Amino acid sequence: MDIIKNPFSPGAGSPPPELAGREGILEQARVLLARIQAKRPEKSILMTGLRGVGKTVLLNEMERMAEKAGYQTILIEALENKPLPQMLAPQLRRLMYRLDRLAGAGNKVRRGLAVLKSFVGGLKISMGEVEFGLDIEPEPGAADNGDLELDLPALFMAVGEAAEERGTAVAILIDEIQYFAKQELSALIMAMHKMQQRQLPIILIGAGLPFLPGLAGESKSYAERLFSFPNIGPLPRAESIQAVRDPIESAGEQIDPEALEAIYSATLGFPYFLQEWGYQAWNQAGESPISEGDIRETSDVVKRRLDENFFRVRFDRLTPREKTFLRAMAEMGKGPYRTGDIAKIMHVAPGRIGPARANLIKKGMIYSPSHGDIDFTVPLFDEFMRRAVPEFSVEQ
Ligand SMILES: Nc1ncnc2c1ncn2[C@@H]1O[C@H](COP(=O)(O)OP(=O)(O)OP(=O)(O)O)[C@@H](O)[C@H]1O
Ligand SMILES: [Mg+2]
Repeated sequence: MDIIKNPFSPGAGSPPPELAGREGILEQARVLLARIQAKRPEKSILMTGLRGVGKTVLLNEMERMAEKAGYQTILIEALENKPLPQMLAPQLRRLMYRLDRLAGAGNKVRRGLAVLKSFVGGLKISMGEVEFGLDIEPEPGAADNGDLELDLPALFMAVGEAAEERGTAVAILIDEIQYFAKQELSALIMAMHKMQQRQLPIILIGAGLPFLPGLAGESKSYAERLFSFPNIGPLPRAESIQAVRDPIESAGEQIDPEALEAIYSATLGFPYFLQEWGYQAWNQAGESPISEGDIRETSDVVKRRLDENFFRVRFDRLTPREKTFLRAMAEMGKGPYRTGDIAKIMHVAPGRIGPARANLIKKGMIYSPSHGDIDFTVPLFDEFMRRAVPEFSVEQ
């Protein structure tokens, strides 16, 4: 088998050779895009799911769909500790200039820029005067309260009106949305609420780790009305098999059914693992068809590669105390886990593990699937923890 022709693509956000099992969610996006263009109400989409299930790949695909449908798009990847306005403002500025170049009369685009300039001033975001063009004056009183929950909706209104005036629509795509602070998320929700009330053509498509149970009160009830929260999970058996078999066959090679079954049971259908297994199986097999024996022989290489890449990069970002916390979780086998039980294993009062728990959620290592429970965000991370730290001991 020719290594150069290996079709698989393990890696964060790398488009897979076959985007298996995602027709439903892509259709949902297509409907959303078309309905907003037709001035019909439709819920925006916030995809949530564990690490490596293919959220970024879907978000990129949806951006392509939006562009093809005639939307103006912006794509943002949220980062831990980076404020939302700072990421959004430069992108919106570029978007407004793009709108300005579209045919059409009216002054809503210039007003949008003025409001954006006030917004930036109100929140004291450093963007530099020159970037705006010298002739743009801020519009005092518009989006410059310095309170994001008021200013972001006002800014979105101005952008939405500008887009409407130029006969286009805007898609804002945000990856890793769980990194936003609660107040930022709630501002975003309020802003989308305004878009729906005024029927303005801005949609939001987000992706991130499961976070909805963490939203509280008013923003939660708004969120549930404004967004659909499709869960992006591992692929079912048939689609997992398709994801591995079809690319091999398209590249002119073959794989035995038993080999496909072996890959499915090793990966449990998690897309990242499917790519890694497919990739290594192709390289290890001398010739077609790839057999079950080839998969067995590949197993050590794949596990080592996953340990060294997918798992290890996350492990290395942890403090000793956080490692102990995760190792205590792994000690109990598969999740979800009760916080109280983890404290018990660590021989400390439940209150003492609160900070480590909060930091691990902030780092995106664990999440709360339901109140009082936590689980790993990385599939099979419990097994990795037991390999990385074979003996559990309570940190001194
Ligand atoms: N439907 C699919 N079929 C087969 N492979 C897929 C599919 N979706 C994604 N993949 C593969 O899975 C891997 C992970 O995809 P991606 O980076 O989009 O995941 P993610 O959910 O964004 O992960 P993270 O939470 O770590 O950002 C990539 O190698 C990609 O090619
Ligand atoms: Mg991603």
